[in-house]
This record gives sequence, C-alpha cells and structure tokens, in this order.
Amino acid sequence: MIILSIESSCDETAVAIVRDGQHILAHEIRSQIADHRQYGGVVPELASRQHLEAMQPLLKVALQQAALDWDAIDAIAVTQGPGLSGALVVGATTAQTLAWLLNKPLIGVNHLEGHIYANFLAFGDAITFPLLVMLVSGGHTQLIEMRGHGDYVLVGETRDDAVGEAFDKVARLLHLPYPGGPEIDRLAQTGDPFAFDFPISLPHDDDFSFSGLKTAVLYTLQDLEKAGQPIPVADVCASFQRAAIGSLLKKIKRYLKHHQVAALSITGGVSANAYLRAELDAFAQKEKLRVFMPPLALCTDNAAMIAACAYYRSQRTSLHRDAADFQVKPRWPVVKKTQSV
Ligand code: KG4
Ligand code: ZN
Repeated sequence: MIILSIESSCDETAVAIVRDGQHILAHEIRSQIADHRQYGGVVPELASRQHLEAMQPLLKVALQQAALDWDAIDAIAVTQGPGLSGALVVGATTAQTLAWLLNKPLIGVNHLEGHIYANFLAFGDAITFPLLVMLVSGGHTQLIEMRGHGDYVLVGETRDDAVGEAFDKVARLLHLPYPGGPEIDRLAQTGDPFAFDFPISLPHDDDFSFSGLKTAVLYTLQDLEKAGQPIPVADVCASFQRAAIGSLLKKIKRYLKHHQVAALSITGGVSANAYLRAELDAFAQKEKLRVFMPPLALCTDNAAMIAACAYYRSQRTSLHRDAADFQVKPRWPVVKKTQSV
C-alpha cells in the first residue's frame, strides 16, 4: 500500500511517500525555521502562508523522488491536528482535494500519534507491546503505555510547559536562536552539568512540571547579571539539560518500578537530544530493556511518520473515500487523562 502524506501542523511543510508503513520512497521537508527566527518563535499567519507556498513544489519533488505517478498512490494521509489551525488547514485542504480528485481514501492522523509511529516506521515489528512511550515535543510531554496499535493509556503528562517548550524558553533567556533545543544540546556538550543545581519539581504522581525549572534558570541569570558576572552559557545549558532530562528519566524509572513493559520508545523533537539518548541507552542496557529511538531525521516533524501511522490504521479499520466533511482539530489529545491507569 502506497500512502502519500502531508504534514503542516506547525513550522515544517512536509510531504512523504511511504510503502507499507516501512519503506520511505520520498521524504521532503521544507523548514520555516529561518523565516520565524527573527520573531523568536512561530508566527501562525506566516506559517500558513509559507505552507501554501511550499506545498505544491514539495508534492512535485516527492513524486519525482519516488519515481511514481499519481495513479500509484493508494491513499492520502494528512495531519488533522493538533497544531496551528491555519497551518493545518493548508495541509488538510491539499489532502482533501487530492483524495477527491484521485478518488482515494483520506486518512486524518493525529500529529502526536504520528510521532509515536516514527519508531514503527524505523523498526516495524521489532517493537513489542506493552510499550512505554515517552512523547517529548515542543507542545507535549506525555508518558503513555501503548498496549497495541492505536491502544493508548495515558500515564502522565506535563502540568505546565512541555519539555521542548522549556528548552526553547531557556534558550531565549540565553539569547540563543529559535528553536532552542538543538542549540542547548550543542552548547551543553562543552558545559559542566553540575555547575548549577537547578531544582526540578517532580509532582508526586506520574506527571511532569517544567515551569519552575525555567524560573530557576531565570533567577540564576538575573543574580549573575546583578553581580556583574559573565554568563557561563555552556554551563547553564548543561545544568538545565541535566535537570530537564533527569526528570523525564526519573518518571520512566518510577513507572517501571511497578509496571512491566516489553520495551521503551522515545519520540518527538526532544528525542533528538544527545544527552537524553545516551542516558536512555545506558539505562536500557542496565535494565536489559530494549529502547527504540527514531533516527535523527524522524525525531522532529516530518510527513513519513504520518504515513506510517495511517498505514497501521488502514490495517485495522476500513477507509472512507468520502472526505467532504473533513475538519482539522487544532486541539486533539492522543489519549485523555480520564483513561489514565
Ligand atoms: O516534535 P517537534 O519537531 O514539533 C512539535 O510537535 O512540537 O518538536 C520541536 C521541539 C522544539 O521545542 C525543539 O526545541 C525541540 O523539539 N528539540 C530539541 C532538540 N531538537 C529539537 N530539544 C532538545 N534537544 C534537541 N536536540
Ligand atoms: Zn511534532
């Protein structure tokens, strides 16, 4: 089954063509980071316009890359939410129109579920259930127990900022370019993670909290400035990262004390973080647990993961051809808190 997929939920326009949920035939991404950087974050209106501009050329290149014609495409998949509504509408309208003209099914995919499927795209059936999924992106921080395809139980989530958001906000305090995650990751590699003892608030249950950590960094920077001392940027990055990633690891360990899972999966933009990947590797080796981490190109937003998610859905539900009432869902959790264990 060949699925053409479109992702436009935030600041990446992406088109992919994937065969049977595993074989990437085309993987095109047009990042808008440079366009938003001067504003220090994503400007929704600008994002929608850029998606519109990028969409058609990307579709063309993707088909060329896969060496396919339109009639080879079996279904169209698109990110239906969550995300910026105007940005989602660009992808959704394109997908809806293609599905209509080609008379193919249209599969709406939850972006967060797409991130989860980045690992299925990369590792397929090597992944076994129950799977403990740590979903860490710019908008979400969730610990999920996945019991089978499409079967999720929310274990915990952030009560305030997402971990990626905390990286971006701390980077902004340090006057680093947007998005801050990769910058902090890079600078932290030359810094001392124990230079500052930033407190991490760990709610007593399985939830996360990152706003206190961000405030602690702010106060430390203000104190240094007041004292006329230079800001040791790399040390601040390394110490912040140790605290932020440390809290993710603590929650994973806490859950595993009382629950047995077959494997771990980490996914979303922050799963590109070198320190997180190294720590998780070490932990998994010690615990003799398999940990799945997407290749770096599949950590951040892309359309291939959307196609993979759509493929696995197509294997368990029937697909509809009539896409006339397709709506975007700017707010759309993968799983609701009420279903928590
Ligand atoms: O999944 P993603 O591309 O978009 C959302 O769905 O939000 O995640 C983007 C987030 C940003 O907050 C970015 O700073 C963070 O992922 N990020 C990183 C790294 N690469 C991206 N955070 C820490 N270390 C990285 N290497
Ligand atoms: Zn994302």
